[in-house]
Amino acid sequence: MTYQSMPKVEIHHHIEGAAPPKFIASLAREKNIDISRIFDADGNYAYAGFAEFLSTYEAACEPLTGPQEFYRLTKAILEEAAEHGVVYLETFISPDFCGGGDVSAWRDYVAAIEQAATEAERDAGITLRGIATAVRHFGPDNAKASSRCAAETKGDFITGFGMGGAETHLRPRDFAYAYDMAREAGLQLTCHAGEWGGSDMVAETIHDLGVNRIGHGIHVMQDPKLVAEAVEKDIVFEVCPGSNVSLGAVTGWDAHPIAAMRDAGLKVTVSTDDPPFFHTTMTNEFTMLSNTFGWDTADFDALNQTALEAAYCDDETRAKIAKKLGKVT
Ligand code: ADE
Ligand code: ZN
Repeated sequence: MTYQSMPKVEIHHHIEGAAPPKFIASLAREKNIDISRIFDADGNYAYAGFAEFLSTYEAACEPLTGPQEFYRLTKAILEEAAEHGVVYLETFISPDFCGGGDVSAWRDYVAAIEQAATEAERDAGITLRGIATAVRHFGPDNAKASSRCAAETKGDFITGFGMGGAETHLRPRDFAYAYDMAREAGLQLTCHAGEWGGSDMVAETIHDLGVNRIGHGIHVMQDPKLVAEAVEKDIVFEVCPGSNVSLGAVTGWDAHPIAAMRDAGLKVTVSTDDPPFFHTTMTNEFTMLSNTFGWDTADFDALNQTALEAAYCDDETRAKIAKKLGKVT
């Protein structure tokens, strides 16, 4: 069976990381920017391992020079996600790549992305929310600037604050100021942890940053006590199996801990992370989970439900999406 038409809720997705390589290559040509090194002979993103992934990712952002480019990118991404049944999407947007941490520039980028989202909601029935996101290896000062951007634009569209990037750079507490500022502004909080770092990184992220969601978090399984704590605290895990397989965080789909995480009582959701980088889509994620673990429509319903409950949106939006999933709250 194909799961393409099944409605889906996706809560871990990077706007720049979702840029189709053809879109980026064509923008680069328009702007005379030479980033040919980041593409392979087939025109796909080329990288080997996580460090190279990050540098390829950053180079791919170079042609995204202004709000108009992000408007076009958002349109392309939402069209593609809607084709895979995604009815609600949360995307990470980095102030570092949208105005370099300057609040007034960031406002213009957010306005352009939100405009594209409004049009896509009207035309393709997909709802988008933005999570302003720090890039960890850019350091705590940039994270503070990103958090200030997030705080200044907190509203119906920018609803959360997060952090991705090189997880082993510094410790969570080094970013506590940025997270405290975002919390005080009323933003919801998530952070990548336990993708490359161990369960200690997941624990510190929960304790020192006060997040209610963890990006990836697969290494939580190293520590049964932490698993029990995460269950008790209702921490939601934004699991991205295709990303983990593609980047080598796990050795293959068979070895992925998502089924064990769910069986341990953890709240798990499924997302694509950076779909073209990992040659994945939400349809592919569901199909591979079905092929690998025998999951079926009831399991995917449950994933959607968990993701919707954990979504950083208001209750009116949640109820609207619940209807699209065939559920009434
Ligand atoms: N930024 C984009 N994708 C990421 C990932 N998988 N891990 C950390 N940072 C990221
Ligand atoms: Zn991610």
